[in-house]
Amino acid sequence: MTHLSGSARARYVQGMFGRIAARYDLMNRLMTGGQDVRWRQQVIDLAGLPAGGRLLDLGTGTGDLALEALGRDGAMLATGGDFTLEMMRVGRQRPGGARVRWAGMDALDLPFDGGVFDAVISGYLMRNVVDVRRAWAEQYRVLQPGGRVVCLDTTPPPRGWQRPFINLHMHIVIPALGRLITGASDAYRYLPESTEGFLPAEQLADHMAAVGFREVGYCHLMLGTMAIHWGTKPGDALQLAGPVVAESYGPGKGDQAW
Ligand SMILES: C[S@@+](CC[C@H](N)C(=O)[O-])C[C@H]1O[C@@H](n2cnc3c(N)ncnc32)[C@H](O)[C@@H]1O
Repeated sequence: MTHLSGSARARYVQGMFGRIAARYDLMNRLMTGGQDVRWRQQVIDLAGLPAGGRLLDLGTGTGDLALEALGRDGAMLATGGDFTLEMMRVGRQRPGGARVRWAGMDALDLPFDGGVFDAVISGYLMRNVVDVRRAWAEQYRVLQPGGRVVCLDTTPPPRGWQRPFINLHMHIVIPALGRLITGASDAYRYLPESTEGFLPAEQLADHMAAVGFREVGYCHLMLGTMAIHWGTKPGDALQLAGPVVAESYGPGKGDQAW
């Protein structure tokens, strides 16, 4: 799994999400105690979309983020993109699923012209891509100037008093739940392994800045095991309809709790 690289890893990720698609949403709620719903709302807040805006939910899976955005503004043009069709098929059956523009795509080679979205958001995508810098560069390219990127993902857990509890949750509780609910325990061993092998939040932010994003910031959630990152493509400011971040947190100031 995590020892794989390049296209072999991408194929493994695709196959794995294909196998767990039917139970993916239930597992998410159970693993996070339902808190992921609130984090997704924060992602939409941070995207600061204008009314009727154009949104890309990249690595959309079953469309949780796109559906949350459409629940707030039915006039929004929300595209959900993923390379695992089984996940999107489940999403299409969900209430409101028909309003999402589902599209098969690879996050490393987006099938859009430049500058066509007001915001690009992702939930638990970036840990899975085989080339993080390229995935950021593609998101930057398809954003219009002034557009925002927001990313929710797991992040390597901090050392400290909380570590034994985190290890118990990640290495015992989650794989056991995964085996019980989805029958695919490897998928839920992949989650802790890929989390521990992922970039620390400050390095992920550095990659964002390196491709051109400005006002890059992040905050940690859930005992430091999750993070939300955000950034803006420089250019003319949008007429923002929703709440925006008044302060940007540079790496080092990122341990803000919500
Ligand atoms: C953990 S799921 C997240 C689903 C959803 N965004 C959420 O918040 O629950 C990760 C999704 O990213 C997709 N994914 C991973 N790598 C991808 C890539 N290179 N291009 C497109 N989708 C990708 C997977 O197929 C999977 O559906």
